[in-house]
Amino acid sequence: MIDKNAVARCFGKAAASYDQHAILQRLSCDRLLQTLPNKGNAERYNTTVDLGCGSGALLPVLANCSKQLIAVDLSFGMLTHAKQQREQQDKLTPPIYWLNADAEALPLLSSCVDLCVSNLALQWCDDLATPLIEASRCLNQGGLMLFSTLVAGSLDELTQSWSTVNEHRHVNRFLSEGEIKTALLKSGLSVEIFQVEIQTMYYSSVKEVMQSLKGIGANHVHDKDAKPTTQGELRAFKANYEMLRDNQGLLPLSYKLAYCLLRKC
Ligand SMILES: C[S@@+](CC[C@H](N)C(=O)[O-])C[C@H]1O[C@@H](n2cnc3c(N)ncnc32)[C@H](O)[C@@H]1O
Repeated sequence: MIDKNAVARCFGKAAASYDQHAILQRLSCDRLLQTLPNKGNAERYNTTVDLGCGSGALLPVLANCSKQLIAVDLSFGMLTHAKQQREQQDKLTPPIYWLNADAEALPLLSSCVDLCVSNLALQWCDDLATPLIEASRCLNQGGLMLFSTLVAGSLDELTQSWSTVNEHRHVNRFLSEGEIKTALLKSGLSVEIFQVEIQTMYYSSVKEVMQSLKGIGANHVHDKDAKPTTQGELRAFKANYEMLRDNQGLLPLSYKLAYCLLRKC
């Protein structure tokens, strides 16, 4: 079971530094929104939900096509930060309701949502099928669920560099493509788009690699061994990672992303 309080605490702590480090999230967000039908059509969707809204980066685009928005996040700290950011921006937007809630148990009525969007948040759920079934329950007939999530193979450079150091868990496990497809099936939603892409980010030091995760609050490792990592183990990990430098002298960190568009028929 995922410790949701710990996940929320990590994201809340990183709220202020999130935007500065969320490079992958912005790439994935742009890519995800390319597949959103009618995004330029003002008021196309009556009610739109952003699941795991983080600092609220998707909200301006969603505001362009929605009559009202519901921004949901597990982390109260992140949600408060997003609300404050939004208040400093233009006020000529549809109303936004801020909901501190878990995507796996949405406190929303059934059949009241037209569009549900989620960028890189659902990999933090216990079971991907659960938030998808919840989204399906909340969607109106014909409603859309558009999301991105991480697939097994993500952060492999970290896994590889720790593998010879000790047997502790240092990296979260991500679902395989097959497991994601099974969750899509369980949701009962019909699949209109399912695409998988690899995105590699590059850093100049191992410290920067680690900071890219910590800076957005994605540094909670589920079921981590309580035994602390020693200085020697940390040095061995860094030495392993250093061996991955490419011919430009940079260190890669790979992400495998799934983009899905589902419809409630
Ligand atoms: C990597 S951030 C992505 C934020 C935003 N969607 C973006 O594109 O920048 C993941 C967000 O999901 C939230 N989150 C994690 N688990 C969640 C859950 N079970 N329910 C709702 N939000 C969750 C975190 O608090 C965090 O703000």
